[in-house]
Parts: sequence; C-alpha cells; structure tokens
Amino acid sequence: MKQAPELAAKARGMEVRMRRLRTTHAMRQLVREADVRPHKLIQPLFVVEDESAAGPISSMPGILRMTKGQALEECRALHDAGMGGMLLFGLPKVKDAAASSNADPDGIVQQTVRAVKDALPDFVVIADLCNCEYTDHGHCGVLNARGDIDNDATLDLLARTALSYARAGVDVVAPSDMMDGRVRAIRAALDDDGFTHTAIMSYAAKYASAFYGPFREAANCAPQFGDRRTYQMNPANGREAMREIELDIQEGADIILIKPGLAYLDIVAQARRRFDVPLAVYNVSGEYAMLHAAAEKGWIERETAIDELLVSFARAGADIIITYFAKEYARRAG
Ligand code: PBG
Repeated sequence: MKQAPELAAKARGMEVRMRRLRTTHAMRQLVREADVRPHKLIQPLFVVEDESAAGPISSMPGILRMTKGQALEECRALHDAGMGGMLLFGLPKVKDAAASSNADPDGIVQQTVRAVKDALPDFVVIADLCNCEYTDHGHCGVLNARGDIDNDATLDLLARTALSYARAGVDVVAPSDMMDGRVRAIRAALDDDGFTHTAIMSYAAKYASAFYGPFREAANCAPQFGDRRTYQMNPANGREAMREIELDIQEGADIILIKPGLAYLDIVAQARRRFDVPLAVYNVSGEYAMLHAAAEKGWIERETAIDELLVSFARAGADIIITYFAKEYARRAG
C-alpha cells in the first residue's frame, strides 16, 4: 500500500483539476453555462371580472387575483423590471355549459388585453386559451350528449375565442386544453381574419398532473366530475410528448410549451434536442406552493432554491420560463 505523502505527490501532478474554475465568484460566473435573465421570464396573472373576488389565493401565498386595474399596474411593474411578458388567465362572472363568456368581445380577458396593450404596446401579452375557467362543469371542452368532452365542437369555440383575443390585441394565444387539432383550427381562424401576426404558443405536452392543485383554487376551475385524463397526458409517457410536439409544430405552433416543469425536465431536454422551435416550460402552481411552504417552515432557503429551480429549466433547454416567481426573481437578478 502507498504511503499518504506519495498519494499527495501524485495528486499534485494531476492534469485535471475541476476546482480551478470554481475559485472565485467572478471565475464561476465566467464559466457558467445556463443563465436566467428577466427577459426570458413570463409572469402568470389572474384577472377577475367580479371585482369582489379579487384578493389573495390561500394556496399560493404572494399571488393575487387582480382586478383589471390592478393587472394593468402589475404589468407596468413587470415591464419596468424588464420581464419577458405576462400570461393572462381570466376569471369570468358567469360560467355555463358552453363557456359562452370566453369569446365575448367584452369579456374580462379581452378588456384586460386592450387596457394593457394600449398602455404598454411593446410589452408581450399572452392569453391562456382554455374553457375550464368558463364552463360550469370545469372541463376544458364542451360536453356531448353522453357527457364526454366533444373534441371537435370545442375546436370551434377555441377558434372563436382566439379570434376575440386577437382582436383585443394579444400578441400570443396559448391553448392549454389539449384537444386534438386545436392549433390548426386556431391558426386557420386567425389567418382568415387577417391576424397572421398573432402567434400561437401551444401547451403541446401538458400532463394530467397533481401539481395544478393550487391553480384550480386560484382560477376556480376544478372539474366537477371525473378528471382531465381523457385529454391531458399520462405522466408516464415521454415518447408521446414528442409526437404531441411534432403535431403541434406541423399544425402551426410558433412556441412549444411543456408543463409541468420540475417533474418533466427530461421531456424539456428531449424536446430541445429534437426540435428547433422556441421551447417554453411552465413552473406550475404546485411547484410554487411546495417551495413556498418548505421555505416558510425554514426547511429550505427560499432565494437559493428559486435560483436553482429556474436555472434547471434553462439548463434543460427551455428558452422561456413561465413562473409565479418571475417578478420576485427579476427584481433580484435584473
Ligand atoms: C387550464 C390551465 C391549468 C393550468 C394552466 N392552464 C389547469 C389545469 O389544466 O387543470 C395550470 C397552471 C398551474 O398549475 O400553475 N387548462
């Protein structure tokens, strides 16, 4: 057996010393690979039509349901912080089986989009496009006579709603319903009406996830019967996500979104290798709530954990990160 001094001498002769580039903060910054800049972040916003419903969301501390006026002020702050944009969710006063208020030209999303784009024309406004906040049964599509989600009838509704968002001036519509063929239907409706410049960010690979729990409280959109597993993807499937993404690109999606983020980084990395379109990842409500709760208990260090979480998305290959931490992070890192 070798003596300790001999081992040390051998170590001194080592050619590769990985720690050399970790010596100082400046050196570590110089060689860092992934970076998260505020202009890559999107902040989700919840806007209520019924102003008495504005206020905090118990399962998402720090996140508010906002009135249109508050949302406008928030967008000014996000814009000033150099953020990439916002993703808007509308909470209507009235819900019905046909999600009628979604395509209303004076609906809450349409009104808010108009107000924000009037005041901040160069701020990127993305509208989530789904029916679950608008249906009384809480599903993302309309139902047929048997009570199943009617895919093709839903496409019609999505196309009309997308058009109403485009007319209000939205930059990007983001269908999150997971119906088959929606990207093609939406693209055709937009183009037919002259909105060839309105982009589509499709939630291409959206999994049926327990991590949406807090959002459903925030947006009051939990399904009243059954679950979303007949349209959202099985968490066990990775290859299927590649097919979903490929189809959405063929149908005309400009940006592809993968959701949730944390438990699906392998999907982000696979998609990055396979596709050359901009990729977005959604750091969802349950991921926010989990980190927040652990930090509140003093079990993890909030800011470092957020930094580590966000950089993991960039490292996996996401270009755009949608996160409830966006504003907080941008203020700190901007
Ligand atoms: C609507 C929608 C959901 C989320 C975004 N759009 C909920 C769901 O599909 O049940 C989840 C966002 C989050 O959890 O932060 N279809």
